[in-house]
Amino acid sequence: MTPPAPSSIPVDRIAQILARWAGRFIVFEGPDGSGKSTQFRRMCEALDASGVAYDSVREPGGTTTGEAIRAVLLDRANTGMSLRCEMLLYMASRAELVEHRIVPALNKGRLVLADRFVSSTLAYQGSAGGLPGADISAVARVATRGIMPDLIVLFDIDSDAAAKRLNPLLDRMEAKGAAFHRRVRDGYLQQAAQDPRRFAVLDASKDQDHVWSQLLAALDQYARERDED
Ligand code: TMP
Repeated sequence: MTPPAPSSIPVDRIAQILARWAGRFIVFEGPDGSGKSTQFRRMCEALDASGVAYDSVREPGGTTTGEAIRAVLLDRANTGMSLRCEMLLYMASRAELVEHRIVPALNKGRLVLADRFVSSTLAYQGSAGGLPGADISAVARVATRGIMPDLIVLFDIDSDAAAKRLNPLLDRMEAKGAAFHRRVRDGYLQQAAQDPRRFAVLDASKDQDHVWSQLLAALDQYARERDED
């Protein structure tokens, strides 16, 4: 199905789609350079316009302690960091976010929109880095208290196209090389194949307006499927 052009989607139709996700937990995922953060901002603007109560969070970071952990993780001076340390730091930042932001917002019936969550660790430190997925999942259960997203939107793009979109001043994660980023993408696609009811996979190689249309179509479709259960 070809999504409609963005201009053809009326604002009240967008608000209607978003309202069906009130009180739910939605996560945006994707490789570096997928355009995920641009769509995240667009979604926040649409939520502002729709009047749906929501909180937006980003990983790593989003709390005072989490932002300090983010700086350590992305600093190119920390090149010798072990993979286990890296994974545990992402999870530590996540534990803070779940405790101080995500659970309180969901308890108040607010929609939570997150830029990355456990799937990032499974793709980056698991599929690409080499840590066993079972170990990551075990730590994730502790960090998240078992909170799972209602929907994970995967902005899928091949690593060559993604690399062209990145700022030439790469951070420590972005600088890991082409083979690493190919494994990240494959890892995400494997997760999506294993849990198709939770994952919506979008073609993020398209232009921003097209991806936005795909996103709205996915939100509409997945809300219907959920309501039919
Ligand atoms: P960002 O560019 O979306 O802000 O993400 C920061 C970087 O951290 C990005 O390269 C992905 C990476 N990352 C992991 O490797 N593991 C994780 O668990 C998370 C949340 C991010």
